[in-house]
Amino acid sequence: MTNWTAIAISSSNIAFIKYWGNRDSQLRIPANGSISMNLDGLTTRTRVSFDPTLSNDRLTLNEQAVSGLPLQRVSVLLERLRAMANIKLFADVQSDNNFPAGVGIASSASAFAALSLAAAAAAGLDLSEKDLSRLGRTGSGSACRSIPGGFVEWQAGQSDNDSYAYSIAPPDYWDLVDCIAIVSENQKSIGSYKGNDLADTSPLQTARVADAPRRLDICRQAILTRDFSTLAEITELDCHLMHAVMMTSAPRLFYWQPTTLDVIHTVIGLRKGGFPVCYTIDAGPNVHCLTPAHSAEKLGTHLLQIQGVTRVLNAHPGGPARLES
Ligand code: PMV
Repeated sequence: MTNWTAIAISSSNIAFIKYWGNRDSQLRIPANGSISMNLDGLTTRTRVSFDPTLSNDRLTLNEQAVSGLPLQRVSVLLERLRAMANIKLFADVQSDNNFPAGVGIASSASAFAALSLAAAAAAGLDLSEKDLSRLGRTGSGSACRSIPGGFVEWQAGQSDNDSYAYSIAPPDYWDLVDCIAIVSENQKSIGSYKGNDLADTSPLQTARVADAPRRLDICRQAILTRDFSTLAEITELDCHLMHAVMMTSAPRLFYWQPTTLDVIHTVIGLRKGGFPVCYTIDAGPNVHCLTPAHSAEKLGTHLLQIQGVTRVLNAHPGGPARLES
């Protein structure tokens, strides 16, 4: 018997091979598969309480009541869950991030993963990892990758049933660190949820998607063999392909700031000098710099020397979404 309340915690994730563009925008069936690493310590904690006295769903984000599109997206996911659990109760959702939201650190990934797990548990459903991943996907595509732990692949699939993510290696398989150079904490004007729907307006998207299986194979193999230099090359290529699509879509999406480029050039220079580091960038100006754990401290020092980098957040590979007992 459920008491209609549960709390879940989920890590954000950083994609090495990016999701950008949908085959089915409603269900968030992606145009291509993707591969990511969960980010330990960059988490969302979400409490869901189904309540018979409520006449609609309620959302509080970082202690602020929220309406409009964010609440609608939460309600769409909860609707799906209510249908699965055969219940009609509305929910009070309280969600807190311990990192800046909406600036390219995949806050929607951790948010919708935590929401899926908390809501399912609150409704008394014991869903499999696959079904939780499918549920999270409908809130925000990348959220499906924050359900399993460690290094995760989202198989694009063809339908709601076969589009989900699974772990390809546990968190302790490879101690990489994502050193996130924070360049700006301003909210971006067009977030990734809307941006994804613009991908097909770029003439470059078809070529990016057609080449994705090759990049996925290279990236998966690089992770499984802990081959940093191959991972570095394919991660940067994939990042450039996604941003080329963003910059050439209509309307164009240009997320980089001058300091973003300064970080890119610093990383390129360091790698030329033999330092194991590479970069990737999501839908925002901040730069995710990947490096083996033994080099993270030194990398942080280099990054903080760049004018305009205000701070550096470090994240090791994170575990799966979990319930708080
Ligand atoms: O899941 P969304 O709709 O927030 O899209 C995420 C898109 C990127 O972060 C830019 C890439 C990715 O695969 O995480």
